[in-house]
Amino acid sequence: MPPVEPLIGFFAATHAVAAAVWVGAVFMGSVIDWPVARATVEPHQFPFRFIVGQGHRVFVWVYAGIAILLVSGAVLLWLAPPQTPFESTLAALKVLALAVMVGNTLYGSLRTWPNLQFATAEEAKFLYRGYMIRAYITCSSGIFAIVLGALGRHLKAVF
Ligand code: HEM
Repeated sequence: MPPVEPLIGFFAATHAVAAAVWVGAVFMGSVIDWPVARATVEPHQFPFRFIVGQGHRVFVWVYAGIAILLVSGAVLLWLAPPQTPFESTLAALKVLALAVMVGNTLYGSLRTWPNLQFATAEEAKFLYRGYMIRAYITCSSGIFAIVLGALGRHLKAVF
């Protein structure tokens, strides 16, 4: 049996990069870009071209991030299964965070996004308000999961 530590290191690094790309994209889109995009149009308008263009470009990165995070997380669990109740709790909380993030992302892609294509500026502003609230929840859940991932490594020896 080959040594397992390098494999764990490889998948942990892949997992961390996928988390950074996904959470970073949602952070950028909601906290940085949206207020600036909104300020570039009149109050009765909606920045359709920017939002649709950004959506098309970010789509592939977000879904690649989700797929890689899921697969690498599952492989890490398989290579180094939780040994204590503390580790099991961390893993369960992370699965929960991921479920919230994926649920919000799918809702955005399958419900908000198609409706946005045919919306008036007023309707788009209303749709985007909900979309942004879900983006903040996704981003916070992602940061929470990143903190759990980093904490787990250092607190394992203590609990
Ligand atoms: C199905 C859901 C998930 C599973 C099963 C999972 C599993 C794991 C496992 C087993 C580790 C290694 C812990 C260790 O050995 O110390 C880990 C680390 C980590 N996880 Fe997750 N995870 C999941 C979701 C997430 C999410 C949603 C994020 C963030 C968006 C995330 C971010 C991280 C980070 C940053 C690390 C630290 C990597 C490192 O060692 O440097 N994980 N995860």
